[in-house]
Amino acid sequence: MKLANRVAIVTGAARGIGLACARRFAEDGAQVLLSDIDGAALAAAVALLAGEGHTVAGHVADVSQRADVEALVAAAVARFGRLDIMLNNAGIAQVKPFLTVTEADFDTVIGVNLKGAFFGVQVAAAAMIAGGRPGVIINMSSINSRMANPDVTTYAISKGGLNQVTGTAAVALAPHGIRVVGIGPGTIMTDMLKAGFMHDDASRRMILSRTPAGRCGEPHEVAAVAAFLASDDASYMTGQTVYPDGGRMILNYTVPVVE
Ligand SMILES: NC(=O)c1ccc[n+]([C@@H]2O[C@H](COP(=O)([O-])OP(=O)(O)OC[C@H]3O[C@@H](n4cnc5c(N)ncnc54)[C@H](O)[C@@H]3O)[C@@H](O)[C@H]2O)c1
Repeated sequence: MKLANRVAIVTGAARGIGLACARRFAEDGAQVLLSDIDGAALAAAVALLAGEGHTVAGHVADVSQRADVEALVAAAVARFGRLDIMLNNAGIAQVKPFLTVTEADFDTVIGVNLKGAFFGVQVAAAAMIAGGRPGVIINMSSINSRMANPDVTTYAISKGGLNQVTGTAAVALAPHGIRVVGIGPGTIMTDMLKAGFMHDDASRRMILSRTPAGRCGEPHEVAAVAAFLASDDASYMTGQTVYPDGGRMILNYTVPVVE
């Protein structure tokens, strides 16, 4: 129970990677406030984890609105007494060729993925400092933070910026005993993947031809990394983004796809 007596917030926790992280944090002993913009799916997720015997609650918030993020952090402190772990996981993908991206497209993706996470870090850190306790803040980045895919320009830009949020916040918050780290997953089997990145057989083949592990990752495999980073096992890690990606980023050629 490496997260016993810890209080965690997970944004975008109604499904996918966020739900898996919330479950894993709870399995490791944390009390978890799940948050999402989708109230119905959030209620179902909270009921699911509560039914498994975990100490969880739900709070609806749109991370692109700073006031929502403030209310979310306040809700965790009000409900569980403090905040130890903040996982800025909520994100949206947008598949659109570079030359067709509009101002509204740009603002929407940057608003959720970059602005949302920035204020998630800032507001969570303020609560941790006010509570006089150390803490851990984790930002859910992507391999797209480092690779240039012009079909997901806004997404890639947002995640590249997010890595700098992680780095700059790590330096700013180290004197307060707060670690800030990132996770950059490769291709993980979630709704986002099916809707955005792997929508047909051609995209499936393209992704798998560049994935040495020969398969997509599962949300629980990202959650295991999040649990490690949130725990004292990672006590000397801050400022880095680590990549559970099945070998995607080190590959310098393509591999045969097993049918
Ligand atoms: N699935 C992948 O292959 C993959 C790879 C790399 C990174 N990621 C990142 O992991 C995170 C989770 O991805 P996922 O695949 O589980 O996605 P998902 O679409 O399955 O789930 C995302 C959740 O975020 C919520 N959300 C969206 N906008 C929000 C907002 N403004 N405020 C609060 N909640 C909001 C959605 O309602 C949804 O429940 C994202 O940041 C994503 O960029 C995913």
